[in-house]
Amino acid sequence: MRVAGAFVFALVAHLAAAQIADVDWWKTTTFYQVYPRSFKDTTADGIGDLKGILQKLDHFVDIGIGGVWLSPVFKSPMKDFGYDVSDFRDIDPIFGTMADFENLAKGCKERGLKLVLDFVPNHSSDEHVWFNKSIYKEEPYTDYYTWLDPKGLNESGSPIPPNNWLSVFGGSAWEYNEVREQFYLHQFVAGQPDLNYRNPAVVEEMNDILRFWMDKGADGFRLDAIPHLLEDQSFPDEPLSNDPEFTSDQWGYLSHIYTTDLPELYDVIYGFRDVVDQKQAELGRQMVMMVEAYTSLENTMKYYGSGDRKGAHFPFNFEFVTNVKNETTAAELKQIIDRWQNSLPDGAWSNWVIGNHDRTRVASRFGRDFGLAAVIMGQLLPGSAITYNGEEINMEDTWISWKDTVDPQGCQAGPEYYQKFSRDPVRTPFQWDNSTYAGFTIPDSSKPWLPVNENYKELNLAEQKEMANSPYHIYKKLTALRKERAAVQRGSLTTKTVGDNIFAFTRQVDTEGEKAVLVVVNVDDAEVTADVTSTVPSLRAGEQLTYHVGTLESPYDADEMIAPSSVKVPARGALVFLYTNSATSIAATSLLLLVSTFLALFN
Ligand code: NOJ
Repeated sequence: MRVAGAFVFALVAHLAAAQIADVDWWKTTTFYQVYPRSFKDTTADGIGDLKGILQKLDHFVDIGIGGVWLSPVFKSPMKDFGYDVSDFRDIDPIFGTMADFENLAKGCKERGLKLVLDFVPNHSSDEHVWFNKSIYKEEPYTDYYTWLDPKGLNESGSPIPPNNWLSVFGGSAWEYNEVREQFYLHQFVAGQPDLNYRNPAVVEEMNDILRFWMDKGADGFRLDAIPHLLEDQSFPDEPLSNDPEFTSDQWGYLSHIYTTDLPELYDVIYGFRDVVDQKQAELGRQMVMMVEAYTSLENTMKYYGSGDRKGAHFPFNFEFVTNVKNETTAAELKQIIDRWQNSLPDGAWSNWVIGNHDRTRVASRFGRDFGLAAVIMGQLLPGSAITYNGEEINMEDTWISWKDTVDPQGCQAGPEYYQKFSRDPVRTPFQWDNSTYAGFTIPDSSKPWLPVNENYKELNLAEQKEMANSPYHIYKKLTALRKERAAVQRGSLTTKTVGDNIFAFTRQVDTEGEKAVLVVVNVDDAEVTADVTSTVPSLRAGEQLTYHVGTLESPYDADEMIAPSSVKVPARGALVFLYTNSATSIAATSLLLLVSTFLALFN
């Protein structure tokens, strides 16, 4: 009976899914984050735009991308460069027009690319019409934001903020408004008042905005700053973190137990997912929802859903961004990767982020060599891969003077600390070629909004296309492997260490004729010759590994046969091999699978 029930359920689910186009596209693809201000400028104002992205769509096809995620392009006074939205339903003139957006969506569709937008639910701009009406207590906007009375007046007669809460960008999280004679909460800059998710009208507004963009052609969303959505309504002071790294006006000075990760916030995310799923069914197009949350592993996993409530398709996996360091050992790397994979709830889909517009570029964090090794791991570990623009050519951070600093997080830190906090260095223009301004803008145009990295003459896309071996070519081979190989798309993962410095993992499916993939990573500063035989127990006796691709200093040529007993792994590098599983191991695993299915069915 149960077997029949399960069969009918699977059949119904299958038929329902059959109505939706490209159901699993988000699982096997690489998402590419475009930071629009810095991608390609077509209007000579020194700022990238939608027409520029349209012009470069074939680049995504060329490098094997499937999903293009745009950082915000909505109307904004740009106090946080687009993450302060003054009209959630319009395009900022800096980036173009709604017609440009529609052309871009069309251009993506024609090329089989999916278009993902940044959704910024935690706050609006202080120039949003809702905020203005809220100041004047115009209904229904009075409680669209979090307003509180001053705690009192200080000696000079100025209002005292309601509590000690700090903004992520530094200084008090409260700003006094003379008209309403109250403070409003802003967890980021003062120009980003926090929306009040205790108010159902706000939730409905935001649901409608999601619907609006899916109707316009978006295939999904990246959800911004999610841990901050809700705050404790008794507004207590937050305790000190006692972290000596931070001064008293820096966010890290406090422990954010009342302003982040509140248990109620997951329901808001599950609600967004319902909206996305409804639209998906209506439009017959598979959508995706990815959550940005810097939080504990335990909290991160809650974003996948709970019980029968679905959450994000995946919350970003920031392990490479926050936990892997230059000094991370092979054993630690294995532990970090295993811990993430083992924390995934049943049926949850994994993903790997190695950089974004907020964090030091991977090539600068780890150095050019290990930066590339991270790109290899990010592409070949299980789940979706996410690339930040420039990673495909190994772009590095650009040093920016205090005078040229524009990021609010840098500016608010002041000249003494700005280098620790500013995100400008990771946001400089994309390096297309060796012409003026790296081909980012048209010659004779205004200076780019951020300086181009001086290394652009030697580090640029056009140059790397010409070279026989370059990060660009390596990247392309990796995305191709994702597309071609079942082992990369859905294979099991086994991780191992060899000696002190080698971390290795294999991906394999138990299908006759399907190649398995072995990735060998050296965390040491010197070349290591390793016997990796133990990492490939299913390699047919006497057979060799076929070298496929590796970091720039790899000693091997494509398709070279290498004995697993002696593999030369370059300093801080990574090598990728293909191999055939022994028939016996496939037969044994298949038998095991058959027995366990049989047992499960009749249990
Ligand atoms: C996270 C975004 O990635 C960052 O760039 C932005 O400043 C904050 N959220 C606030 O929206």
